[in-house]
Order: sequence, then structure tokens, then C-alpha cells
Amino acid sequence: MSRRVLVTAALPYANGPIHVGHMLEAIQTDVYVRARQLAGEDVVFMWADDTHGTPVQARALREGRPPEDIIAEAYEEHVSVYRDFGIGFDIFHSTHSPENEHHAGEIFRAMEANGYVSARDVEQFYCPHDKMFLPDRFVRGVCPKCGAPDQYGDSCEKCGSTYASTELGEPACALCGTTPIRRSTEHLFVSLAPFEEFLRQWIHEDGGRLQPTVRNYVLGWIENGLREWDISRDAPYFGIEIPGHPGKYFYVWFDAPVGYISATDKWARDGGHDFAAYWQSTPDDTEIVHVIGKDIVYFHCLFWPAMLKASGYTVPSRVQVHGWVMVNGEKMSKSRGTFITARTYLEHAPAAYMRYYYASKLNSGQDDLDLSFEDFVNKVNAELVNKAANLASRCIKFIGTRLEGRLGELPADAAEFAQQIRARLRDAPTHYQAFESSKAVRGAVEVAEIANLYVTEQAPWKLAKTDPERARCAVSGCGPVRWSRRYSSRCCPSGPNGSSGCSSSLSH
Ligand code: MSP
Ligand code: ZN
Repeated sequence: MSRRVLVTAALPYANGPIHVGHMLEAIQTDVYVRARQLAGEDVVFMWADDTHGTPVQARALREGRPPEDIIAEAYEEHVSVYRDFGIGFDIFHSTHSPENEHHAGEIFRAMEANGYVSARDVEQFYCPHDKMFLPDRFVRGVCPKCGAPDQYGDSCEKCGSTYASTELGEPACALCGTTPIRRSTEHLFVSLAPFEEFLRQWIHEDGGRLQPTVRNYVLGWIENGLREWDISRDAPYFGIEIPGHPGKYFYVWFDAPVGYISATDKWARDGGHDFAAYWQSTPDDTEIVHVIGKDIVYFHCLFWPAMLKASGYTVPSRVQVHGWVMVNGEKMSKSRGTFITARTYLEHAPAAYMRYYYASKLNSGQDDLDLSFEDFVNKVNAELVNKAANLASRCIKFIGTRLEGRLGELPADAAEFAQQIRARLRDAPTHYQAFESSKAVRGAVEVAEIANLYVTEQAPWKLAKTDPERARCAVSGCGPVRWSRRYSSRCCPSGPNGSSGCSSSLSH
């Protein structure tokens, strides 16, 4: 039996709508999952929203409503958009769930029991008015490097430098403007150093685990020394309270990837599937594949495998990293008007066009994709519409109106045509499996080109008058005939003048 396969895409943040950049990842994952399912493999797609952390909390404070409201709204939007794009996930769950609380707790307890967790005091800004420790993004002040006013506590938008929030000049609470005070508080740290050997081996295993450039990145981080990871935040924090540490909450990146596990748990419970076969298994039996963008490699290739290893869950077999969707060579931006939500896109064009466009561009590298509407329109028109759709519509309409809606089999003298088509189709499963959908799509476009040429040469609209059976057979190869390996050369025996009884119905 082949291995069970569990695929995930990164969990989108619940603090905003799905945009066309998210759709690249959704479509890449969906195409990969469907292709492997079509090839007969046992593949499931587990997905969820990432709900916790300061952005949602900050919005809740600003808008004066509970964070649960905000994430419920986001959930509706995310699921409906993904459905409208035909993304075939098996479940879309949430990190704000009992399952996630359970598994994050289990992982933490195992790490603590094995001695990987330690507590230490750190000094942080605290707002006496709001009575809370201020995360970096909740502090504003003068950049310590360039002197620009009104910058966030983690990095300067003027000069790009990064720093600790306590280095800011004239710091102020971003919520109320009060000058924060320094206060010391206990944080929990996970040490990664004990996982160095495991991680070195993990990034190198079976060749396909990481793409070469990604592997080099991760290796560089390891060589620079694995630092401790601060996994706790003080109340009030919208997240999961850490078991055995009242008032301390998991930093959002601790419980976010656990969402992959808790989605599986929920799906297994609801549908009577075997949870343990996925997450309490080994990579020999269960292949776990994560699809992510290049900004979150650190979390998926260092912290995440270490968390799983430490707690005895199945470690991933592959982390597939893609590049960014850009507009005019820059990150999408609300202020420049280049931020396009997936919903807005759907008001202007069908989902299939975007699915086609991304699938035709995507490969296994991390190059950015500049969204050019000229290229988008040209590609969709020239390839999808004028080649593929045109072929289908011309043949199906013809069979329907002139040939009683019945299909035939390919004429024996079409062997070369059949051979050319099969050659293009043969490698498609391999291309999809290697995240090289652009190559598979290229093959499909060539199939449409060859078939269009064949129909033009055969001129069935002329044949239909003299030899309708032959016409039927000629167009059948371009319609919904199954191009399976079972196609044999035993087909319509007729030459141009023969007739045959080789018809099969359209539902075939
Ligand atoms: N919530 C985290 C992921 C947690 S996974 C356990 C997150 N969310 S996100 O909404 O910011 O991004 C979700 C995914 O979309 C990430 O893989 C990210 O790289 C990807 N993209 C976000 N913007 C993108 C583009 N403009 N282009 C391509 N992918 C982009 O990160
Ligand atoms: Zn304040």
C-alpha cells in the first residue's frame, strides 16, 4: 500500500481578508493535492485559520468588540472565498479550538518534561494605563538609528533597521499614548540547541525534504547557532493559556502550526478517520507535506520539526516553499492601491482564470511572481480560451448538433496523433508531484494545439456529409474520450470510406 499523504497550506491570519497573494498558495496546494488524488494516492488536505496574537487583539481593542467576533467574521470570509475558488480542502478548522488547546498543551508538556523549557525574567515595556505588557507593535517612538518619529517598536519604516522596543526614543503606548514603564516579567524559553543533530539530519533526508536553496538557508541558521525561543506572552493576550503557568499564554507562532494537527483531529473525530495514523506515525507510513511562503521558513523548518520531534508526533516529509506575488515589482500595498482581495478579483473574472494563470506559472522555485494584468489577459485568452476551451467547444458542439451526441473511437490511422498526445500526458503526474505545474500545463496546451490542428486537417464538417461515422471518430479524440493507458489501437476500423459501429455514448 502506498503511504498516506497529509498536505497543508499555511494557515491564513484571521486579522484580514484573503488576497490574491494567498490565492497563489491555495491554488498551488489544491493543484498538488488533486493531481496526487487523481493518480490514485490517498491524500487529504488539512487547513485552518490562524486566529491568535496581537493583530487580532489590537483590532478588537480598537473596534471595541470581542476578538471572537473578528475571527468568526474572518472564518466566514476565508471559507467562502476558498470554496468559490474551488479549493478542495477536507477541513477548514481554527486554532481557536479545544483541539488546538489540547495538542498545543500536549506538545508543551512533553517539551517541559524533557527539560527543553526554562523560565527567565525579561524587561519589557508596560503601560500603567492599559495595565498590560506592550508587544513590539503596541509601542511607538523615535527610531534609535535614523531619528524618524512615530515608528513601531520592532522596526523602522523609514530606514528599515530593526531594534528592541526598549531602544525607541520617547516611547508611547500605541493604544493610549501613555509613556510606558520598564517592568520585568517571567518568560518561558524553549532551547533549540539540543535539536541540532536532529535538524541537520532532517533537512538532508531523502533529497526531497527541502528545496536546495531553502536547505542552505536553514543550514546557515543552524551554523550561526540555534538560539532559545521565547514562547510565552503575558495576559492579556488573545491565545491559549500555558498549562501549569497561569497568566502566561503561548506566543501565536507556538500554537499556529499545531493547527495542522488539531484540524486533522477534528476531521478524524467528525468523519470516523484514524487520527493516530497521521500524527502518531512515522514518515515511512505517513507523508506530511507543508506548502508555505518564503517568509515563514524559520518557523516551519526549525521550530516546528523540533516541537514535533520533542513530543513524539510525526515529523514532516516535505516543506515546499514558494515565492511572493508582487504588483509592479513591489509588495502589494493598501496605500498604493495594489492590494487586491480575492473577493474583489471574483467580481471581475472567473476563478478558473486565476487557477489557470497561477498553475501555468508555478514551479518548485521561490521566484516572485509579478502580477501583470496584461500577461494575465494574454495568457488566459491565447491558451485557455483560444486553445483548450475552443477545442472542446468546437468538438462538443459539433458532436451534439451534427452527430447525435454520440462519441466514436479514434480512427486507426490516427496512431501518430494519439502517440503525440500520449507523450505530452505521460510526464504530467511527475511534474505535478514535483510542484512543477507550469510544465504539466505547458503539456496540456500542446495537447490542445495538436488536437486543434488534427481537427482542422480532418475537416469533420466536410466528412459529416459523406461519412458521418468517420467524422464522429475524428472529433472524438478531441472530446471527452478517456486518454487512459487502456486506449488501444483497436479502434474505428474505417478508412476514409469505411463505416463502423464503434460509437460510445457521451457519458463514457
Ligand atoms: N498565519 C501565518 C502562517 C501560520 S502557518 C502555521 C501567516 N499568515 S499569512 O496570512 O500572513 O500568510 C499565509 C500564507 O500566505 C503564507 O505562507 C504566506 O507566505 C503566504 N502569502 C502571504 N502573502 C503572499 C503573497 N503576496 N504572495 C504569495 N504568498 C503570500 O503567515
Ligand atoms: Zn496604553
